[in-house]
This record gives sequence, C-alpha cells and structure tokens, in this order.
Amino acid sequence: MTVPPSSTDQSSPDDTPALPTHLEVDGVRLKLAKPHVGVARWIGQDEVLQQLLACWISLDQTDLPLTPRLVGAPGVGKTQLGIAAAMAHERPLFIYQCTADTRPEDLLVTPVLSQDGKIAYHASPLVTAMLVGGVCILDEGNRMNEKSWASLAPLFDNRRYVESIVAGITIDANPSFRAAVTMNQDESTFEIPDYIMSRLQPTLPVGFPNKQDEMAILQYHLPFAEPEMLAMTVEFLQRSHSLKLEFSPRDGINLLRYALKRISQDPKHPLSRDQAWQEALKHCLGEDAMDLEQMSQRRRRTLGGDAVPLGLADLFFDPDDPMHPDLDEVDDNEDEDADF
Ligand SMILES: Nc1ncnc2c1ncn2[C@@H]1O[C@H](COP(=O)(O)OP(=O)(O)OP(=O)(O)O)[C@@H](O)[C@H]1O
Ligand SMILES: [Mg+2]
Repeated sequence: MTVPPSSTDQSSPDDTPALPTHLEVDGVRLKLAKPHVGVARWIGQDEVLQQLLACWISLDQTDLPLTPRLVGAPGVGKTQLGIAAAMAHERPLFIYQCTADTRPEDLLVTPVLSQDGKIAYHASPLVTAMLVGGVCILDEGNRMNEKSWASLAPLFDNRRYVESIVAGITIDANPSFRAAVTMNQDESTFEIPDYIMSRLQPTLPVGFPNKQDEMAILQYHLPFAEPEMLAMTVEFLQRSHSLKLEFSPRDGINLLRYALKRISQDPKHPLSRDQAWQEALKHCLGEDAMDLEQMSQRRRRTLGGDAVPLGLADLFFDPDDPMHPDLDEVDDNEDEDADF
C-alpha cells in the first residue's frame, strides 16, 4: 500500500512544494518529521556524486533503486555528499543520525504522550521519507546495533516496507523513496551483519580531495580567509594525505576558522599569521600534528607493532609495567639501535 501525499495541516514555506505534516496509515495518524533545509554544494570528485545518483535511477517500473554505502575517513565529506546528491535528485531530504542507542522504534514510529493524555505517533525521518517519497540519509549507520538494522531488512530488499510494532502497522515505501547510508571507519562502530550489508550495495568510497579541490572546499566554507592562510592549510592537508594520515577537510576548516578568529581578536597587536596558524594546529589537531613525518612514522610503527605476538609475560604484566621481564630487553635493544 502506498500512502497518497494528501493530508491535514499543510504548511507552505515560500515556493517549495508543501509537505504534509501528518499522514494516516491504516487508521493510525502519524506526525511526520521535518525535512532537512539548507544548501550543500559538493565540490570536486564528481565521479562519486554520479555513482550515488546512478544508484537512485529507476530504469523501468519494475526496477528498484539501490541503497549504497558511502564509506571513508571521518570528515572526508560523506554526509555532505549525501545532502548534495539529494538536492541534485530534487527530492526532500531527511537525515537520520544513527547512534549506538538507536532502537528499532526510534528508526520507525515512536509513541509520544500528548498534552490531552492521548498517544501521538511520530514518524521518524526515515519513515517520513518513505511516506512522502523523499531521500533518507542514514548517517553513520554502523553506529547502530544489529537489532535496529534487522527492522530495516524488508525495506532494503524488494519488499520495500517496514513493520512498526508499536503502531501496529505496515508502512510501504513510496516508489520515489531513495536512501543511502554513510559509514565511518573508526573503532567505535558495530560490525553490521552480512545479510544487511548485502542489501546496502554498492560501496562508494569517498577519498580525500586533490589539492585544487581542497582549496575550493576551504574557500567555499571560509570565503573571507586570506589566500596565505588557505595555502598553508591546503599544504598541510595534502602533506597529511600523502602520508596516509587521516586529517580531513573538516579538520582544515576547523583549524583555519580558529586561526582567523585569533588573528581578528586584537587589531592593535595582531598575532602573526604563522603564529596563529601554528597555535590553531596544536589546539585543533593536537601536538602530534605539528610534525607530520614523525606522526606518520609512529603510526607505521604502531601498526607494525600490533602484529608482534604476545609472550607469556604479557598475560601477567602491562607492556609499560616496570616488572615486565621483557622491558629491559626492549630498552637494551633500543640503546643498541641508537648506537648505529
Ligand atoms: N567535496 C566537498 N565539497 C564541499 N564541502 C566538503 C566537501 N568535502 C568535505 N566538505 C566539508 O567538510 C566537512 C566535513 O564533511 P562531512 O561532515 O560531510 O564529513 P563526513 O565524512 O560525513 O564525516 P563523519 O564521518 O565524521 O560523519 C563539512 O563541513 C563539509 O561541508
Ligand atoms: Mg557524516
């Protein structure tokens, strides 16, 4: 069953087509979520934008759209890409921020006690997108546990519906409904089960921008920044990308924003640009970021070190414990190394 986009309480901001605020599904009145507003431009890397838009094409009445995974380092632009693609697709956008606490009902329909003591049913941004035929970005999807993902299994195969246990209804997706999931690669995430992964295809990796694009991204977000400050930041980011360190455009934006604020603070004794930039680097990205080469070497050593097998003593002592029998041995070796 597909719900027609007709309902009560229509609001009509400026000239964008009005979206219903409520819809009824099988006799249950649902309050809908508000769409995301605001413009987001996607700069550079046109290929990945085209790949995402291709997933949402429907070639024939029987052809189903795909729900891709956008993967990449934190701050590389996955959410921005999703927002920009929804704008290019010209459908209303709804963003659902997934967290480790997300329960299945949060993803679908939540019962809320209203002022008159009755239960009101609130549709999530995902269900709202399903009903109005919008785009839903499930942001940072792998922060969500398996139970919540399981409730979406029928939505992302050819059934295209969800079942809300709390509201006691089955909700079909409008044929125009589209979705994408962004996923982070950090450690605070869940392993998503294979049967869900197989429904979230294809995987679209978002990489770091090249020099020219990185400059355009910083200029777009901080149009008032001086060329010298922009150039310093782009140099830094490009160097870190080439050393496989994960400093992102977001890091660059934050660091530059802070440096510019520090410079503007005291017009009589302004901080030198270089001083402000170094201070911002240290406070935004940490002391380690001040020497990228050393940071990269340390990172390589740590990654290599993880592969070293544990000895019997490691079961009883922390690696830094002075009682650790191998500690002297390690120190001796380091001394030997230093002599070369
Ligand atoms: N190609 C781009 N065009 C325009 N802005 C970009 C681009 N890439 C990154 N940005 C900007 O960089 C910042 C970080 O992007 P975004 O939040 O989309 O990253 P993310 O990959 O979703 O990060 P996380 O994994 O932490 O959620 C945002 O301010 C975004 O606008
Ligand atoms: Mg994001």
